[in-house]
Amino acid sequence: MENKTPLLSLKNINMVFKKPGSLLKDQYIHVLRDISLDIYAGEIIALVGESGCGKTTLGKIITGLYKPTSGEIYFEGNKVSGIFDKKVTSFNEIQFIQQDSYAALNPVRTIYQSLYAPIKNKHKKWSKKEVDAKIEELMQIIGLYPSEQYLSKYPHQLSGGQRQRILMARAISLEPKLIVADEPVSMIDVSLRLSILNLMKELNEKLKMSFVYISHDLSTSRYFAANGKVAVMYLGEIVELGQIADVISHPSHPYTRALVQAVPVPDPTYKGADELPLKSMQLGSLEDRTEGCSFKERCLYCTSECNKKQTYQSSKTAQVLCCNLSTVLDKDK
Ligand SMILES: Nc1ncnc2c1ncn2[C@@H]1O[C@H](COP(=O)(O)OP(=O)(O)OP(=O)(O)O)[C@@H](O)[C@H]1O
Ligand SMILES: [Mg+2]
Repeated sequence: MENKTPLLSLKNINMVFKKPGSLLKDQYIHVLRDISLDIYAGEIIALVGESGCGKTTLGKIITGLYKPTSGEIYFEGNKVSGIFDKKVTSFNEIQFIQQDSYAALNPVRTIYQSLYAPIKNKHKKWSKKEVDAKIEELMQIIGLYPSEQYLSKYPHQLSGGQRQRILMARAISLEPKLIVADEPVSMIDVSLRLSILNLMKELNEKLKMSFVYISHDLSTSRYFAANGKVAVMYLGEIVELGQIADVISHPSHPYTRALVQAVPVPDPTYKGADELPLKSMQLGSLEDRTEGCSFKERCLYCTSECNKKQTYQSSKTAQVLCCNLSTVLDKDK
């Protein structure tokens, strides 16, 4: 798969925001640092990391909703610059399922109207009957039937899980090549989670749609991206990237190791890891980020080397951002 041109390729992406509220003096926050990522057709990549590390920002760059401060984006080998560039239509092929399902749907439009408009826009020549047939088919796919029960409702009249399914229907109605799903199941009951994840798996298998699955939860990522990759993010950087099965069985970056150890094990006799392999349990903050390694304040293996710029290395199974990696691995032998 890797010899082909990626569907989407990010090269050295940086994103700097002006800090909200900083009116008197310009203050900036460097949210994404030097992110490079290739997404291939039919591939699933789980993007995992703690709250505030920049997952949604990266998802918005992938879908063209944000223009990065620097770096390049290629869609099927052609350079693109975001949906704001009117000449670029490639971003129609990428759909974003937002983290907040309530904010993503227009509150004064019924579900029918929210689904009708994008389909009619894509298939301008379709009659109302044809669009209605497509809506019916989508409602069957997402498991909300009889559809009349839902289509005449407004977003606030549906549950969070039902709204997530509608967002899914709207995203797949446009038959995109790539869907970026931002925490699509985090606000959904456990019973419904599996059906949404299975629905996405089916779309991936049957229609070869690629997915970027954003989550702070390694267990749903392991389920959904079982044959795919994981990109582990920490304070705006991808610190480890590889096949998810390999990364979970042999995590190489110290942060990934802690993340894997923190996953609950469904065994009542398992007492759990005594202590996470971290120097501090305090979450990192992008605003206090210093130069050198982003993880050095919490890393058990930190040395003076870690004040220098980090470089990517390859462990046996993954690409890892940690210039001190060989020492880390030696210590663990
Ligand atoms: N439009 C914006 N303007 C200024 N700062 C922003 C903007 N969007 C995001 N940020 C900042 O960027 C950082 C990363 O935010 P982001 O929403 O990407 O994190 P996340 O990993 O998705 O977190 P969560 O898991 O909580 O959803 C945060 O510090 C946030 O305050
Ligand atoms: Mg987010």
